[in-house]
Amino acid sequence: MPILDYNKTNINIAANDIKSGNLVAFPTETVYGLGANALDSLAVSKIFATKKRPSFNPLIVHFHSLNQLKRYFELNSTELLLAKHFWPGALTLVLQNKTTIKPFISELCSGGLTTQAVRIPNHTIALELLLLSDVPIAAPSANLSNTLSPIMAKHVELSLQSYDFNIIDGGKSVLGIESTILEVTELNCVNILRYGSLDPQEIANLGITINNEKSTAIKAPGNLKKHYSPKTKLILNSNIANNDEALLAFGVLPNNIGKPKKILNLSPSGDLHEAAANLFAMLWELDLENYSNIVVMPIPTNGLGIAINERLEKAAAKE
Ligand code: TXA
Ligand code: MG
Repeated sequence: MPILDYNKTNINIAANDIKSGNLVAFPTETVYGLGANALDSLAVSKIFATKKRPSFNPLIVHFHSLNQLKRYFELNSTELLLAKHFWPGALTLVLQNKTTIKPFISELCSGGLTTQAVRIPNHTIALELLLLSDVPIAAPSANLSNTLSPIMAKHVELSLQSYDFNIIDGGKSVLGIESTILEVTELNCVNILRYGSLDPQEIANLGITINNEKSTAIKAPGNLKKHYSPKTKLILNSNIANNDEALLAFGVLPNNIGKPKKILNLSPSGDLHEAAANLFAMLWELDLENYSNIVVMPIPTNGLGIAINERLEKAAAKE
């Protein structure tokens, strides 16, 4: 099926796809999602089959509003504080307390866990799709399991080649890496399960304590050692590339960089937000151009640098 431009007709087609149990790939501010009606187990099972994703790896369910979400879950005061502050936005909350109101969210979404990850995305197309289809939408990133995340419609097409669903084109995802996943462990305390587009400092600024330090406590089941893999081998923390290699730079170029065949700079000014937004876009671009290696310069490990380094390490991992 084609990539559809965003317009009134096509967004209605996509909403009808969701309502009738089909998949739709759609843009969010973080990455593109591969969506299905979260209330329909058969529809959700198509996500796992299409991505070749193991069924124990749970999905994030998306909502258009806090009111819609509250039909399905009870939030404590810390969860509500985070929700009101960061939604719509790049925060995913892992919730414990499901309500007893039917219809239930399909058990397949939680991959066998008792918890459910939820998010309200900050993207007009995603929100319109959620409103028009009027059901919660389960959506992982719209790529083949363990490969580079898609931040453009054409990445979805390249990743899921023999796909049979519509892709709504919303241009480039502005944040460019996935949401930050949190669980509230006790009032005013959280664990970060996956570092992402929301800077941990913004959470700390609300007076909330982050229990885990750096990326030691990654518990999300999908957080395997090897993930986000491009076809081309990555060499991390180096400045020197030879004439069949590409250099993925960050900040000011050092004097000696060897003779890279191509240089892309994640952020010439050394801005981590800009680097996060460019990370997957530039990896996709270089990976399609067949260099023998992609050499990546060191990226600082503060703020969004944690999320960037984590993705680079997984993308470079062999097994
Ligand atoms: O930005 C995003 O979060 C994007 C957009 C589309 O919303 N979605 C996304 O989904 O990145 P996915 O499936 O590619 O990554 C979700 C991660 C997986 O590593 C999964 O294991 C973890 O979230 N996860 C989902 N439910 C969980 C739960 N109940 N407890 C812990 N981790 C969970
Ligand atoms: Mg993913």
